[in-house]
Amino acid sequence: MSFDVQAIRQQFPILGREIDGQPLVYLDNAATTQKPQAVIDALVDYYSTCNSNVHRGAHRLADEATMRFEGARDTLAHYLNAYHREEVIWTSGTTESLNVIAHGLAQQLKAGDEVMVTEMEHHANLVTWQQACKKAGATLKVVPINELGELDVEQYKAMLSDSTKLVAIPHVSNALGSINPIVELTKLAKEKGALVSIDGAQGAAHFKIDVREIGCDFYSFSAHKLYGPTGVGILWGKKEVLENWPVWQTGGEMISEVSYQDATWNVLPYRLEAGTPNIAGAIGMAAAVSWFAQLDYDAVQAHEKALLAHATKLAEGIEGLTIIGQAKNKTGVLSFIMEGGHPADIGFLLDRQGIAIRTGHHCAEPLMNKLEVPGTARASFAIYNTIEEVDRLFEALAKVRMMLD
Ligand code: ALA
Repeated sequence: MSFDVQAIRQQFPILGREIDGQPLVYLDNAATTQKPQAVIDALVDYYSTCNSNVHRGAHRLADEATMRFEGARDTLAHYLNAYHREEVIWTSGTTESLNVIAHGLAQQLKAGDEVMVTEMEHHANLVTWQQACKKAGATLKVVPINELGELDVEQYKAMLSDSTKLVAIPHVSNALGSINPIVELTKLAKEKGALVSIDGAQGAAHFKIDVREIGCDFYSFSAHKLYGPTGVGILWGKKEVLENWPVWQTGGEMISEVSYQDATWNVLPYRLEAGTPNIAGAIGMAAAVSWFAQLDYDAVQAHEKALLAHATKLAEGIEGLTIIGQAKNKTGVLSFIMEGGHPADIGFLLDRQGIAIRTGHHCAEPLMNKLEVPGTARASFAIYNTIEEVDRLFEALAKVRMMLD
């Protein structure tokens, strides 16, 4: 299957929008992606035809909603090559998924245990483990990155020990775009007997994920960065690990039997899904994954690489612009700073020209401090972006440069 970017664009209604009379150039995809008509239709169809609560009702709509909701779980399980469908736990997104793991971990850790993260973390994959370690008196170890923004694998190996209970690695850095060698890192951690949690927030948007191939214990991601709705995501976890994982929230659905004095817990996946779930969100996420799955992954990768290569070449030609994060293996993220302009000013002046990027610390404050920058301006590409849009970004940046001089 060949890759036709215009045919892809036509499926995203929002891309036809104008900002102050100029065509929108949406380059804030690492924050959230836009949604294709197939996903919008799935949400509208669910609410228009069978909205109901799931697992509880004694009527037709409840049955239909339950079938679609559980069907969405099957879609995700199949997509991820999960060992069992009950390994797919619906959450509100990556952050909640990581909190489910960290909440359970905090109850198992003891003084002397170690948890490893990296210097490239965004807050959700740092504060979670930091707080779990604090509660237990365990040690949080932070694996350094090199000057290109790549994880130092030799240091990682050296820092792993028999005390390492969990390694929490991002698949891809949101601020730098660096892709981590998660298969190799997982293998090394498993040799030490550690659990491995992959923060897939930025990875699942670019790669077909196969959890068996990765070999990790947990893989978490949100729908909204993968062309799906906001407010929903999944925690995938190996059945034998999740089965014994401490319950997260208590309430309806996650129980088996309840008396006034006590309660017992339901089986997976329900024991980790208290309350009414985000039914429409799950159905929308499955629609997004199905939409993504019918694309030619190699062509998608090649397109995103071409956008990044073009943007990098143009960026290198701008005097006073420094690219932050130059890993050899990167997704379509161009983070940069420019002399004479605070990232927030750059973002503001680009927005006036119809171009949407993100500026700031990208929820990765310790990383920005390490890099000694106040934040960056970040253009992040998705499959619907074009080379012409990259050109427009740089034409607009040239104007920003003049305005700042
Ligand atoms: N983590 C998201 C980002 O990088 C919100 O923008």
